[in-house]
Amino acid sequence: MVSYFKKQCVQSKLSSICDELLDISKQTLIVNNGNISKWENAINELKKYDKGTVNYQPPYLNINISNGNIKPLQQSLKKLIPWRKGPYQIGNLQLNSEWCGSMKWDRISPHIQPLKDKTVLDVGSNNGYFTYLMALSGAQITLGIEPFLLFNYQFMAIRTLIKNPPNAFILPLKLEQMPKEALFDTVFSMGVLYHQKDHLLHLQQLRTLLVNDGELVLETLIINKKYGKQIIPKGRYAKMRNVWCLPSTNTLYTWLKKVGFKNIKLVNVTKTTPEEQRTTYWIGDNTQSIKDFLDYNDDNLTIEGLPAPHRAIFTCSK
Ligand SMILES: C[S@@+](CC[C@H](N)C(=O)[O-])C[C@H]1O[C@@H](n2cnc3c(N)ncnc32)[C@H](O)[C@@H]1O
Repeated sequence: MVSYFKKQCVQSKLSSICDELLDISKQTLIVNNGNISKWENAINELKKYDKGTVNYQPPYLNINISNGNIKPLQQSLKKLIPWRKGPYQIGNLQLNSEWCGSMKWDRISPHIQPLKDKTVLDVGSNNGYFTYLMALSGAQITLGIEPFLLFNYQFMAIRTLIKNPPNAFILPLKLEQMPKEALFDTVFSMGVLYHQKDHLLHLQQLRTLLVNDGELVLETLIINKKYGKQIIPKGRYAKMRNVWCLPSTNTLYTWLKKVGFKNIKLVNVTKTTPEEQRTTYWIGDNTQSIKDFLDYNDDNLTIEGLPAPHRAIFTCSK
């Protein structure tokens, strides 16, 4: 599953860490996950299709295959539910994921250093929707790291359908497992910080992987400063387990400064809407989405009575 990565890696600025990345990834893949045969079966079914070229036609990452009847393709891709990130258009099939990722990309892309010819890391890449957008922006190589195996298989499923795929790859790794070398020009951490028990350690690890003057693009949940410096949810937050920190933007600024980032800029704050996070056919049997996570009488609060999700985007450099 990961061997396709090596050929491109050895020709890139990541050549010194290719073998180590592959060794760590292979260890992650030796797991006893009862779903693997179902997911591999889905990928084998997708191999039967003629491949198509890929481009970005917002909101869709569009793969131009000719597939006539959408049912068999739909059935194969359904074996890989839930599809949280996307959306994808594959021939005449629209795979509308829970999140409409183009809305986030619209908020981010005008504010970042050009990715052309860059070495890019996408931490917590999920199924690689953004990893592909980064590669299509001209990056020399884009590595997504995503510990959750299903999302690695979703990435492979999409890649299986693409003719001459761009230089986007995903490995089943955690940030903590990355070789500690400063090789990346741009590092993205989007939707990952609030899942970390030690937020400063996460920011330090991101900084370690950047070349001098390289750029961090950080997207995470924040609170308005009227709620205090930060909230550490006692239980769930918007029904999510493992949300460990909800800082104000001022607090997040001080964290970035503390770990040594410079040129820190807050470029966007946006409330999550039901247009961006929605219930779709592609999320499977658990059909809950943002509307179910908010207070039924006040959409400024979560169902637990905490401030409703707002997301900030910071850019900064090493
Ligand atoms: C909320 S999703 C965000 C996905 C995507 N980056 C986005 O912005 O839509 C967070 C992802 O980060 C992954 N993740 C969580 N902890 C991680 C870690 N320590 N290293 C790498 N990925 C991690 C999760 O498995 C999940 O797919």
